Amino acid sequence: MHRLIVVKLGGSLITDKQRPLSLRREALASVSREMAEICESRRLVIVHGGGSFGHFAVLRAAGSRSKLVEEVRYWMTQLNLEVVRTLRERGVPAVGLPPIALAVLDGEGLCRVDAELVSWLLEAGLVPVTHGGLVRAEAGGLEIVSGDTLASELAVRLGAEALIYLMDVDGVYTSDPRAGEGARLLKVVTPRSLDTIRGSSSGMDVTGGIRLKLMEALRAARSGVRVALGGVRELRAMVEGVEGRYTIVKP
Ligand SMILES: Nc1ncnc2c1ncn2[C@@H]1O[C@H](COP(=O)(O)OP(=O)(O)O)[C@@H](O)[C@H]1O
Ligand SMILES: [Mg+2]
Repeated sequence: MHRLIVVKLGGSLITDKQRPLSLRREALASVSREMAEICESRRLVIVHGGGSFGHFAVLRAAGSRSKLVEEVRYWMTQLNLEVVRTLRERGVPAVGLPPIALAVLDGEGLCRVDAELVSWLLEAGLVPVTHGGLVRAEAGGLEIVSGDTLASELAVRLGAEALIYLMDVDGVYTSDPRAGEGARLLKVVTPRSLDTIRGSSSGMDVTGGIRLKLMEALRAARSGVRVALGGVRELRAMVEGVEGRYTIVKP
């Protein structure tokens, strides 16, 4: 069983973005049970977002660069540990992997991952669990990279069968479904339909919201990865690539 699935766990899904440092424990537990199920037939890489932990860290840094490094590393490590703990409790052989040990930003600002390290972990039967956060930049210093970007890059480099963005909503809509103005779920998103999608960037998303997510999804789709975005209820359909109430991204 060499088929690989990369799952991005949305920060909105596993934390409450309205309240600082608040885990959505039930959601995390049910996602973890689903991850255990996937592990029975596939290899798995998990990337999670920062949600209200990432946002809290940025607030605490109050604009100071060095403080940002200190706070982001600390709070994202706390969140990663909670995710890994919950996964392990459900029988997933999860191994936390800080992004700083996994990726660099190259001269063009593109995120490059150490595919060899991740392959080794997968080969050993483990499930790497990394997250959005700080990576080294070739130009010097550290930069924040979104979990959406890391997930896409990992899926491309590892030749994943599928890249799944698990969200707190059923997929990508014509506009923000939380704004409640007759938003319609889109079954397919293409580069052409991208410009028609409206999204309110929630104040609690540090790294770009729905638009960045779609740009990264498209990049992976262009490289031949099957890409889906949706909620936990449709996870199995997204893994198997069968019809369901979720969004597919086509190049
Ligand atoms: N057009 C849209 N389609 C789907 N979700 C949208 C859209 N516009 C805004 N959103 C909001 O984006 C959120 C998901 O993005 P984000 O908060 O960045 O999630 P994540 O934590 O998964 O990265 C949803 O909770 C939704 O309210
Ligand atoms: Mg986001």
